[in-house]
Amino acid sequence: MNAEPQTRVLPADPATIETASACLTAGGLVAFPTETVYGLGADATQGEAVARLYAAKGRPAFNPLISHVTGLDAARRLACFNPDAERLATAFWPGPLTLVLPKQPNCPVSDLATAGLDSIALRVPAQRTARALLEAFGKPVVAPSANRSGHVSPTDAKHVLADLRGRIDLILDDGPCPVGVESTIVALLGEPTLLRPGGLPRADIERVLGRPLKAPDRAVDEEAPLAPGMLASHYAPKAAVRLNVREPRADEALLAFGPAPPFSGVTLNLSPTGDLVEAAAKLFSHLRRLDTAGVAAIAVMPVPNEGLGEAINDRLARAAAPKA
Ligand code: TXA
Ligand code: MG
Repeated sequence: MNAEPQTRVLPADPATIETASACLTAGGLVAFPTETVYGLGADATQGEAVARLYAAKGRPAFNPLISHVTGLDAARRLACFNPDAERLATAFWPGPLTLVLPKQPNCPVSDLATAGLDSIALRVPAQRTARALLEAFGKPVVAPSANRSGHVSPTDAKHVLADLRGRIDLILDDGPCPVGVESTIVALLGEPTLLRPGGLPRADIERVLGRPLKAPDRAVDEEAPLAPGMLASHYAPKAAVRLNVREPRADEALLAFGPAPPFSGVTLNLSPTGDLVEAAAKLFSHLRRLDTAGVAAIAVMPVPNEGLGEAINDRLARAAAPKA
Protein backbone atom coordinates (compact mmCIF):
# COMPACT_ATOMS: atom_id res chain seq x y z
CA MET A 1 0.00 0.00 0.00
CA ASN A 2 1.23 3.45 -0.84
CA ALA A 3 0.21 5.80 1.96
CA GLU A 4 1.88 8.81 0.33
CA PRO A 5 -0.61 11.52 -0.58
CA GLN A 6 -1.18 11.78 -4.31
CA THR A 7 0.03 14.68 -6.41
CA ARG A 8 -2.20 15.10 -9.45
CA VAL A 9 -0.72 16.38 -12.71
CA LEU A 10 -3.40 17.97 -14.89
CA PRO A 11 -3.05 19.58 -18.32
CA ALA A 12 -4.03 23.25 -17.97
CA ASP A 13 -7.48 24.01 -19.39
CA PRO A 14 -10.49 26.03 -18.14
CA ALA A 15 -11.84 23.09 -16.09
CA THR A 16 -8.52 22.21 -14.41
CA ILE A 17 -7.85 25.88 -13.67
CA GLU A 18 -11.15 25.93 -11.73
CA THR A 19 -10.04 22.77 -9.89
CA ALA A 20 -6.72 24.43 -9.04
CA SER A 21 -8.44 27.60 -7.84
CA ALA A 22 -10.73 25.56 -5.54
CA CYS A 23 -7.68 23.72 -4.22
CA LEU A 24 -6.03 27.06 -3.32
CA THR A 25 -9.23 28.20 -1.59
CA ALA A 26 -9.16 24.99 0.47
CA GLY A 27 -5.62 25.85 1.61
CA GLY A 28 -3.93 23.45 -0.84
CA LEU A 29 -0.64 23.72 -2.73
CA VAL A 30 -0.75 24.07 -6.53
CA ALA A 31 2.27 24.22 -8.83
CA PHE A 32 1.69 26.27 -11.97
CA PRO A 33 3.79 27.57 -14.86
CA THR A 34 4.88 31.17 -15.23
CA GLU A 35 7.00 32.56 -18.09
CA THR A 36 10.09 32.34 -15.82
CA VAL A 37 9.88 29.03 -13.88
CA TYR A 38 7.13 26.86 -12.35
CA GLY A 39 5.88 28.34 -9.06
CA LEU A 40 4.45 26.55 -6.03
CA GLY A 41 1.28 28.49 -5.19
CA ALA A 42 -0.66 28.94 -1.97
CA ASP A 43 -3.34 31.42 -0.86
CA ALA A 44 -1.23 34.38 0.35
CA THR A 45 -3.88 35.34 2.91
CA GLN A 46 -3.97 31.93 4.70
CA GLY A 47 -1.09 31.63 7.14
CA GLU A 48 -1.57 27.86 7.46
CA ALA A 49 -1.38 27.30 3.72
CA VAL A 50 1.80 29.41 3.60
CA ALA A 51 3.29 27.36 6.44
CA ARG A 52 2.51 24.14 4.54
CA LEU A 53 4.23 25.62 1.50
CA TYR A 54 7.47 26.27 3.43
CA ALA A 55 7.31 22.70 4.76
CA ALA A 56 6.71 21.16 1.31
CA LYS A 57 9.78 22.93 -0.09
CA GLY A 58 11.86 22.10 2.97
CA ARG A 59 13.03 25.68 3.26
CA PRO A 60 15.31 25.97 6.28
CA ALA A 61 14.23 29.52 7.09
CA PHE A 62 11.06 31.56 6.72
CA ASN A 63 12.23 33.69 3.86
CA PRO A 64 9.73 36.14 2.35
CA LEU A 65 7.74 35.02 -0.70
CA ILE A 66 6.61 36.83 -3.83
CA SER A 67 2.87 37.58 -3.99
CA HIS A 68 1.49 37.12 -7.52
CA VAL A 69 -1.46 39.26 -8.63
CA THR A 70 -3.44 39.95 -11.80
CA GLY A 71 -2.30 43.52 -12.40
CA LEU A 72 -1.47 46.98 -11.11
CA ASP A 73 -4.90 47.58 -9.52
CA ALA A 74 -4.65 44.42 -7.43
CA ALA A 75 -1.04 45.28 -6.58
CA ARG A 76 -2.00 48.73 -5.29
CA ARG A 77 -4.23 47.11 -2.65
CA LEU A 78 -1.14 45.38 -1.23
CA ALA A 79 1.68 47.93 -1.56
CA CYS A 80 2.50 51.64 -1.92
CA PHE A 81 3.70 52.71 -5.36
CA ASN A 82 6.04 55.71 -5.71
CA PRO A 83 6.60 57.25 -9.18
CA ASP A 84 9.51 54.88 -9.99
CA ALA A 85 7.34 51.89 -9.06
CA GLU A 86 4.49 53.21 -11.25
CA ARG A 87 6.89 53.63 -14.16
CA LEU A 88 8.38 50.14 -13.89
CA ALA A 89 5.04 48.41 -13.35
CA THR A 90 3.51 50.23 -16.32
CA ALA A 91 6.46 49.41 -18.57
CA PHE A 92 7.06 45.75 -17.61
CA TRP A 93 3.92 44.17 -16.09
CA PRO A 94 2.84 41.58 -16.92
CA GLY A 95 6.34 40.13 -17.21
CA PRO A 96 9.45 38.79 -15.46
CA LEU A 97 9.90 41.69 -12.99
CA THR A 98 9.28 41.55 -9.22
CA LEU A 99 9.02 44.80 -7.26
CA VAL A 100 9.74 45.03 -3.51
CA LEU A 101 7.61 47.87 -2.12
CA PRO A 102 6.35 49.21 1.23
CA LYS A 103 3.42 47.09 2.39
CA GLN A 104 0.01 48.76 2.68
CA PRO A 105 -1.08 49.04 6.32
CA ASN A 106 -4.18 46.90 5.64
CA CYS A 107 -2.44 44.42 3.30
CA PRO A 108 -4.26 41.06 3.62
CA VAL A 109 -1.15 38.95 2.84
CA SER A 110 -0.14 36.79 5.81
CA ASP A 111 2.83 38.00 7.89
CA LEU A 112 4.41 34.59 7.42
CA ALA A 113 4.52 35.19 3.65
CA THR A 114 6.35 38.50 4.13
CA ALA A 115 8.46 37.09 7.00
CA GLY A 116 7.24 39.89 9.25
CA LEU A 117 8.84 42.60 7.06
CA ASP A 118 7.09 45.90 6.32
CA SER A 119 7.89 45.42 2.64
CA ILE A 120 6.29 43.03 0.13
CA ALA A 121 7.50 41.50 -3.15
CA LEU A 122 4.92 41.67 -5.98
CA ARG A 123 4.84 40.18 -9.44
CA VAL A 124 2.32 40.07 -12.29
CA PRO A 125 3.15 37.04 -14.44
CA ALA A 126 2.45 37.03 -18.20
CA GLN A 127 2.09 33.28 -18.82
CA ARG A 128 -1.49 32.37 -19.84
CA THR A 129 -2.11 29.63 -17.24
CA ALA A 130 -0.67 31.74 -14.41
CA ARG A 131 -2.93 34.61 -15.47
CA ALA A 132 -6.01 32.41 -15.77
CA LEU A 133 -5.40 30.89 -12.33
CA LEU A 134 -4.92 34.31 -10.70
CA GLU A 135 -8.08 35.61 -12.40
CA ALA A 136 -10.11 32.58 -11.29
CA PHE A 137 -8.79 32.70 -7.71
CA GLY A 138 -9.19 36.47 -7.32
CA LYS A 139 -6.74 36.83 -4.44
CA PRO A 140 -2.93 37.09 -4.20
CA VAL A 141 -1.01 33.82 -4.59
CA VAL A 142 2.42 33.38 -3.01
CA ALA A 143 4.70 31.28 -5.16
CA PRO A 144 8.37 30.46 -4.75
CA SER A 145 9.97 28.30 -7.41
CA ALA A 146 8.38 24.82 -7.25
CA ASN A 147 11.51 22.87 -6.31
CA ARG A 148 12.79 21.27 -3.13
CA SER A 149 15.02 23.70 -1.30
CA GLY A 150 18.57 23.20 -2.54
CA HIS A 151 17.57 22.14 -6.05
CA VAL A 152 17.57 23.81 -9.44
CA SER A 153 14.35 25.72 -10.30
CA PRO A 154 11.83 23.76 -12.42
CA THR A 155 11.12 24.86 -15.99
CA ASP A 156 8.90 21.90 -16.82
CA ALA A 157 6.04 20.07 -15.03
CA LYS A 158 8.12 16.88 -14.85
CA HIS A 159 10.85 18.75 -12.91
CA VAL A 160 8.19 19.75 -10.36
CA LEU A 161 6.94 16.17 -10.04
CA ALA A 162 10.51 14.86 -9.58
CA ASP A 163 11.03 17.23 -6.64
CA LEU A 164 7.61 17.49 -4.97
CA ARG A 165 5.64 14.31 -5.72
CA GLY A 166 3.52 13.42 -2.68
CA ARG A 167 4.23 16.80 -1.01
CA ILE A 168 1.81 19.00 -2.95
CA ASP A 169 -1.77 18.60 -4.20
CA LEU A 170 -1.70 19.54 -7.85
CA ILE A 171 0.53 20.45 -10.79
CA LEU A 172 -0.95 22.37 -13.71
CA ASP A 173 1.05 21.35 -16.79
CA ASP A 174 1.33 23.89 -19.59
CA GLY A 175 4.66 22.89 -21.11
CA PRO A 176 8.13 24.41 -20.67
CA CYS A 177 8.70 27.95 -19.35
CA PRO A 178 9.81 30.29 -22.16
CA VAL A 179 12.14 32.58 -20.15
CA GLY A 180 13.72 29.88 -17.98
CA VAL A 181 15.33 31.97 -15.22
CA GLU A 182 13.50 33.60 -12.30
CA SER A 183 12.19 37.15 -12.36
CA THR A 184 14.45 40.16 -11.87
CA ILE A 185 13.86 41.62 -8.37
CA VAL A 186 14.08 45.39 -7.85
CA ALA A 187 13.57 47.00 -4.43
CA LEU A 188 11.94 50.44 -4.44
CA LEU A 189 12.30 51.24 -0.74
CA GLY A 190 15.06 53.85 -1.14
CA GLU A 191 17.11 54.26 -4.30
CA PRO A 192 16.07 51.58 -6.84
CA THR A 193 18.19 48.50 -6.07
CA LEU A 194 18.76 45.30 -8.07
CA LEU A 195 18.24 42.49 -5.54
CA ARG A 196 18.40 39.63 -8.07
CA PRO A 197 19.28 39.69 -11.78
CA GLY A 198 16.69 37.68 -13.72
CA GLY A 199 14.49 37.35 -16.77
CA LEU A 200 14.24 41.10 -17.43
CA PRO A 201 17.68 42.54 -18.32
CA ARG A 202 19.07 45.30 -16.10
CA ALA A 203 19.57 47.66 -19.06
CA ASP A 204 15.82 47.65 -19.88
CA ILE A 205 14.99 48.69 -16.31
CA GLU A 206 17.67 51.39 -16.18
CA ARG A 207 16.40 52.83 -19.47
CA VAL A 208 12.90 53.33 -18.00
CA LEU A 209 14.20 54.66 -14.66
CA GLY A 210 16.66 57.00 -16.40
CA ARG A 211 19.41 56.04 -13.94
CA PRO A 212 21.48 53.05 -12.87
CA LEU A 213 20.22 50.47 -10.38
CA LYS A 214 22.10 50.33 -7.09
CA ALA A 215 23.82 47.15 -5.93
CA PRO A 216 22.23 45.62 -2.81
CA ASP A 217 23.90 45.63 0.59
CA ARG A 218 23.49 41.87 0.43
CA ALA A 219 22.33 39.57 -2.35
CA VAL A 220 18.92 37.89 -2.30
CA ASP A 221 19.43 34.41 -0.94
CA GLU A 222 16.52 32.11 -0.26
CA GLU A 223 18.48 29.67 1.93
CA ALA A 224 20.16 32.07 4.32
CA PRO A 225 18.41 35.43 4.13
CA LEU A 226 20.34 36.78 7.09
CA ALA A 227 23.82 35.67 6.08
CA PRO A 228 25.44 38.65 4.36
CA GLY A 229 27.45 38.09 1.21
CA MET A 230 27.07 34.32 1.16
CA LEU A 231 26.74 32.59 -2.18
CA ALA A 232 24.34 29.80 -1.27
CA SER A 233 24.57 26.65 -3.35
CA HIS A 234 20.81 26.45 -3.67
CA TYR A 235 20.79 26.16 -7.44
CA ALA A 236 23.30 23.34 -7.08
CA PRO A 237 23.27 20.10 -9.02
CA LYS A 238 24.78 17.04 -7.26
CA ALA A 239 27.80 17.12 -9.56
CA ALA A 240 30.52 19.71 -9.03
CA VAL A 241 30.29 22.69 -11.38
CA ARG A 242 33.39 24.28 -12.95
CA LEU A 243 32.92 27.66 -14.63
CA ASN A 244 34.55 29.44 -17.58
CA VAL A 245 35.97 26.23 -19.01
CA ARG A 246 37.31 26.16 -22.57
CA GLU A 247 38.89 22.69 -22.38
CA PRO A 248 36.74 20.15 -20.49
CA ARG A 249 38.43 17.16 -18.85
CA ALA A 250 37.66 13.59 -19.94
CA ASP A 251 35.62 12.82 -16.78
CA GLU A 252 33.40 15.88 -17.09
CA ALA A 253 30.18 16.67 -18.93
CA LEU A 254 30.20 19.86 -20.98
CA LEU A 255 27.60 22.62 -20.78
CA ALA A 256 28.48 24.55 -23.91
CA PHE A 257 27.57 28.06 -25.06
CA GLY A 258 28.23 29.02 -28.67
CA PRO A 259 30.50 26.86 -30.83
CA ALA A 260 31.69 23.94 -28.65
CA PRO A 261 35.29 22.65 -28.70
CA PRO A 262 35.83 19.06 -29.89
CA PHE A 263 34.90 16.81 -26.93
CA SER A 264 34.00 13.13 -26.73
CA GLY A 265 32.05 13.32 -23.43
CA VAL A 266 28.38 14.17 -22.84
CA THR A 267 27.68 17.67 -24.19
CA LEU A 268 24.58 19.85 -24.05
CA ASN A 269 24.64 23.27 -25.67
CA LEU A 270 22.73 26.22 -24.14
CA SER A 271 22.77 27.91 -27.54
CA PRO A 272 25.02 26.89 -30.43
CA THR A 273 24.50 30.34 -31.98
CA GLY A 274 25.31 32.17 -28.73
CA ASP A 275 21.77 33.47 -28.17
CA LEU A 276 21.37 34.46 -24.48
CA VAL A 277 17.55 34.25 -24.57
CA GLU A 278 17.71 30.65 -25.79
CA ALA A 279 20.43 29.91 -23.21
CA ALA A 280 18.34 31.22 -20.30
CA ALA A 281 15.37 29.11 -21.37
CA LYS A 282 17.50 25.95 -21.45
CA LEU A 283 19.74 26.58 -18.41
CA PHE A 284 17.93 24.69 -15.65
CA SER A 285 16.72 21.74 -17.76
CA HIS A 286 20.25 21.24 -19.18
CA LEU A 287 21.73 21.36 -15.65
CA ARG A 288 19.19 18.74 -14.51
CA ARG A 289 19.92 16.49 -17.50
CA LEU A 290 23.71 16.69 -17.10
CA ASP A 291 23.31 15.98 -13.38
CA THR A 292 21.49 12.72 -14.14
CA ALA A 293 24.29 11.68 -16.55
CA GLY A 294 26.22 10.60 -13.45
CA VAL A 295 29.39 12.59 -14.14
CA ALA A 296 31.67 13.88 -11.37
CA ALA A 297 31.66 17.41 -12.68
CA ILE A 298 29.91 19.71 -15.14
CA ALA A 299 32.25 22.02 -17.05
CA VAL A 300 30.57 25.23 -18.18
CA MET A 301 31.84 27.39 -21.02
CA PRO A 302 32.00 31.18 -20.48
CA VAL A 303 28.74 33.12 -20.95
CA PRO A 304 28.96 36.87 -21.66
CA ASN A 305 27.69 38.97 -18.75
CA GLU A 306 25.32 41.16 -20.78
CA GLY A 307 21.51 41.13 -21.11
CA LEU A 308 20.15 37.84 -19.73
CA GLY A 309 23.77 36.71 -19.31
CA GLU A 310 23.85 38.51 -15.95
CA ALA A 311 21.08 36.26 -14.58
CA ILE A 312 22.58 33.14 -16.20
CA ASN A 313 25.99 33.84 -14.63
CA ASP A 314 24.38 34.55 -11.23
CA ARG A 315 22.66 31.13 -11.26
CA LEU A 316 25.81 29.38 -12.55
CA ALA A 317 27.91 31.00 -9.78
CA ARG A 318 25.42 29.71 -7.19
CA ALA A 319 25.49 26.23 -8.77
CA ALA A 320 29.29 26.27 -8.53
CA ALA A 321 29.44 27.65 -4.95
CA PRO A 322 30.71 25.28 -2.26
CA LYS A 323 27.86 23.19 -0.87
CA ALA A 324 26.74 24.14 2.62
O1 TXA B 1 10.30 34.11 -11.34
C1 TXA B 1 10.09 34.12 -10.13
O2 TXA B 1 10.30 35.12 -9.42
C2 TXA B 1 9.53 32.82 -9.50
C3 TXA B 1 8.13 32.61 -10.10
C4 TXA B 1 7.46 31.41 -9.53
O3 TXA B 1 7.35 33.77 -9.92
N1 TXA B 1 9.52 32.90 -8.09
C5 TXA B 1 10.65 32.88 -7.33
O4 TXA B 1 10.44 32.91 -5.95
O5 TXA B 1 11.77 32.84 -7.81
P1 TXA B 1 11.54 32.55 -4.88
O6 TXA B 1 10.82 32.43 -3.58
O7 TXA B 1 12.33 31.37 -5.31
O8 TXA B 1 12.43 33.83 -4.80
C6 TXA B 1 11.88 35.03 -4.27
C7 TXA B 1 12.98 35.88 -3.69
C8 TXA B 1 13.53 35.29 -2.39
O9 TXA B 1 14.92 35.12 -2.52
C9 TXA B 1 13.21 36.34 -1.34
O10 TXA B 1 14.27 36.53 -0.44
C10 TXA B 1 12.96 37.61 -2.14
O11 TXA B 1 12.39 37.15 -3.34
N2 TXA B 1 12.00 38.48 -1.44
C11 TXA B 1 10.69 38.28 -1.24
N3 TXA B 1 10.14 39.27 -0.50
C12 TXA B 1 11.14 40.13 -0.23
C13 TXA B 1 11.22 41.35 0.50
N4 TXA B 1 10.16 41.90 1.10
N5 TXA B 1 12.41 41.96 0.56
C14 TXA B 1 13.50 41.43 -0.07
N6 TXA B 1 13.50 40.27 -0.76
C15 TXA B 1 12.33 39.63 -0.85
MG1 MG C 1 13.75 29.60 -5.72
